[in-house]
Amino acid sequence: MPEKELSDGTPDRCGLVIFGASGDLTRRKLLPALYNLFLDGLLPPAFGIVGFARSAFSREEFRVLARGAVDEFSRRRPADPQRWPEFEQMLHYQQGGYGDAESFRRLREVQTNLDRVHAGAGNWVYYLATPPSAYREIGQGLEQSGLACSRMDAKPWSRLVVEKPIGHDLSSARALNDALSAGCEESQTFRIDHYLGKETVQNILVLRFGNGIFEPLWNHHHIDHVQITVAETDGAGSRGGYYEEAGALRDMVQNHLFQLLCLVAMEPPHNLGADAIRDEKLQALESIRPIRPEELDRQVVRGQYAAGLVDGQPVKAYREEEKVARESVTETFVAMKVYLDNWRWSGVPFYLRTGKRLARRTAEIAIQFRKLPPILFNRNPARPLDPNVLSIRLQPNEGVSLQIGSKRPGPRAEVSTVKLDFGYHSVFPAGTPEAYERLLLDVMLGDATLFMRRDEVEAAWSFVTPILEGWTHSTPDDFPNYVAGSAGPARADELLVVDGRRWGRL
Ligand code: BG6
Repeated sequence: MPEKELSDGTPDRCGLVIFGASGDLTRRKLLPALYNLFLDGLLPPAFGIVGFARSAFSREEFRVLARGAVDEFSRRRPADPQRWPEFEQMLHYQQGGYGDAESFRRLREVQTNLDRVHAGAGNWVYYLATPPSAYREIGQGLEQSGLACSRMDAKPWSRLVVEKPIGHDLSSARALNDALSAGCEESQTFRIDHYLGKETVQNILVLRFGNGIFEPLWNHHHIDHVQITVAETDGAGSRGGYYEEAGALRDMVQNHLFQLLCLVAMEPPHNLGADAIRDEKLQALESIRPIRPEELDRQVVRGQYAAGLVDGQPVKAYREEEKVARESVTETFVAMKVYLDNWRWSGVPFYLRTGKRLARRTAEIAIQFRKLPPILFNRNPARPLDPNVLSIRLQPNEGVSLQIGSKRPGPRAEVSTVKLDFGYHSVFPAGTPEAYERLLLDVMLGDATLFMRRDEVEAAWSFVTPILEGWTHSTPDDFPNYVAGSAGPARADELLVVDGRRWGRL
């Protein structure tokens, strides 16, 4: 993954069709990302973007929507009036129903026309920015109109991009993957996990395998445990309908947190190719010890937020959010302890936690090293030394720090805890591209490294599905069990306290 820099190449001439072009994802992420790629000169020549959705927009109205999206959400905003007209020229719109053959026939005409006018070479990316319930119809529509994926190495090529959720449990994920593979080869299917597009997430492998000092210590001989935290201050907001069906385990753990775990835990790949990296991630996922039903309550904690204060502002309880059931038992918080049964990680617990409406927005991985023998500076049991902790801050305040002990100036041999700290923003003030910029570019380049392969998705579901099933047999009787703006339910602390450990502060 890190070998491939943005400057490695300009994509082939191609175009992009976005299904779900009037939706939130298109507005918040895709259009702003495309605009920034355009400003950076990274789009292929003669690029064309065709929005496809049910909404009855004219081409002009779609352009207005795009301008609004860029003004509101782009990394560089508002839209530059000098450059906007050139970008706007790339935008086209086709209204249509996903199950309507006629709409797909018209889409084909638009594409053929664009191929001719812009010499687009006939290569197309199809981005499914719709709910997964529309995937099947879109797949059929593409196939029947002759737009379906041709082989990855065929010329012209086509590629399919799908967003999570890929299923809601193992069997639905398999069914969805089967449906996707009916029209497209695996190598043409790009499953997005936007965490993999984040610079700081890609840096995990550079940190581990681009430095000599960490890897020799990166195992059960030296590491006491690992904590992975992705905490949000936002609540379910306007996504209550989706979230009710998903919950934090499906929404965050099955994908983002497990992908982070893989990058921390995997063995070195034999090269930086997409499959070499994904093979090693898969091995890591497959080595996670399944949680037995009788251990579920001891190893996994779920929570739901009550009303409270976030950043000094009162916020409502999850059960009071729009489109959320008053008696909802959907979890907005999960903490769990997992073990990887492999040579490197034997006996090392990985503690994962994520939740909405927590005290602080942060995504961080903390690698805590083993304690020293109590012989020298920590001889006095009343004054233990703090452990060494390597913290990888993914967002915000991106960076890496190492907690070490240092002599406090003075006549006595006293040790203070200090930090060696690298902050992205002070070293790289130009800032970093948004995840979707990198991911869209990689699809156009045909590089699948930062996308989830089918077997990875299914391995993650294999672990998560029994937990979901276990939960259906025991309704939580303490929901809501944490106050918005807190660090989560008390039981999440106990998960570590019983092991003689504690979470890093939120
Ligand atoms: C999404 C989840 O995948 O990730 C959201 O569906 C969550 O619920 C979001 O808020 C978090 O992403 P980020 O990049 O803001 O950390």
